[in-house]
Amino acid sequence: MKAYDIILKKRNGEALTDEEIRFFVKGIVDGSIPDYQATAFLMAVYFRGMTDEETVTLTDAMMRSGDTVDLSRFGKLSVDKHSTGGVGDKTSLIVAPIVGSLGLKLAKMSGRGLGHTGGTVDKLESIPGYRTDLPADEFLSQVEKTNIAVIGQTGNMVPADKILYALRDVTATVDSIPLITSSIMSKKLAAGAHTIVLDVKTGSGAFMKTPQDARVLAEKMVTIGKACGRKMAALITDMDTPLGSNIGNALEVKEAVEVLRGKKNDLYEVSLALASNIAALALELPLEEAKRRCEDAVKSGKAFLKMKEWIASQGGDETYLDDLSKFPVAKYAYEIRAKRDGYITHMDAEKLGLLCVELGAGRRKKGDAIDFVAGLILNAKTGDRVKTGELLATAYSSIPSLDAVLDDAYEKAVLISDDKPTAKPLIYDVIF
Ligand code: URA
Repeated sequence: MKAYDIILKKRNGEALTDEEIRFFVKGIVDGSIPDYQATAFLMAVYFRGMTDEETVTLTDAMMRSGDTVDLSRFGKLSVDKHSTGGVGDKTSLIVAPIVGSLGLKLAKMSGRGLGHTGGTVDKLESIPGYRTDLPADEFLSQVEKTNIAVIGQTGNMVPADKILYALRDVTATVDSIPLITSSIMSKKLAAGAHTIVLDVKTGSGAFMKTPQDARVLAEKMVTIGKACGRKMAALITDMDTPLGSNIGNALEVKEAVEVLRGKKNDLYEVSLALASNIAALALELPLEEAKRRCEDAVKSGKAFLKMKEWIASQGGDETYLDDLSKFPVAKYAYEIRAKRDGYITHMDAEKLGLLCVELGAGRRKKGDAIDFVAGLILNAKTGDRVKTGELLATAYSSIPSLDAVLDDAYEKAVLISDDKPTAKPLIYDVIF
């Protein structure tokens, strides 16, 4: 078998065989196929696409290219969730304790912030002492003991994706449905859970800008996950507006705690929908019954207690969760006020995410340090009526003299006009 022939076959629009795809993935990882052939292959897939059978094989071959986690000891109780990424998206911090308090086992590997989107690992590290680098045996025994462990991506998992993603990033081949599907699903499958619920975001702050594109991706990922023997659902949810009111690492942990203590907002709604779908699939319950149990976990305080147990057993200081004023506050707070009366008609979530990176809440380049206290608190969101002089947002940073920069960046990200915007759905659909 030759890499050249496989590239030629895909370039000509033919479907590849199981053996050809596995040969290619193996060659990429062992170095026998050079980067220039790998990128030619990626471009051919970009233009010619892949059948579901090819995408299943590609996903499976990538998943098997490195270490995998064995969660078989937890049987059907092992669950996982994945978000395609957003701004202010701290649902994992809420969903984990809800499903953990129902007896489900969440052994989760999360990512760090990327571009304008935040990452769960960075958020958790804003809690003093929290360890995101547990070795495999400790990771699993913590899940056994407390039902939840959330760590960073470790060691040699899915090396094929590391190589391919880096090449896609610089060769304009990221936005291909089979390539995104195999990239995300190979990592989720390698993490071992029996039930996987995906949160596919759509809108200005999301990878998929339209609900139609998000649906295509969601359906494909659900199909591939099921073909690989997992229970799957995907929610298509709004990321046109940031989720909740806090953006930035420690600020997001605080808002997650507020929701677990009863605050009701869009963040609660999306978290509840994700948790309910996980519980319905894993516990084989009707969705309404699963939702009732999830709501009860929050109302009774059981989910908040579970969060404290999880954070403490992973080394974090859980007293910060009891007393949110213990989190350090940024040196500078900048108030952003309305310059006119009107309705907030549009918020560009990506621009607001990038503004938070400028405040210090994210990385400009890999390896940059994060300022955990930096970020934004939004007082008004899309659809709200505001008056001249009203406080729209407060920005927090350790960087002085940002007033003018912030006003300008906020104005470019948020549109205020006379017409009340038509409300958009928060949850577009659930795909099974
Ligand atoms: N996230 C991933 O992990 N892979 C992609 O291809 C896109 C988003």
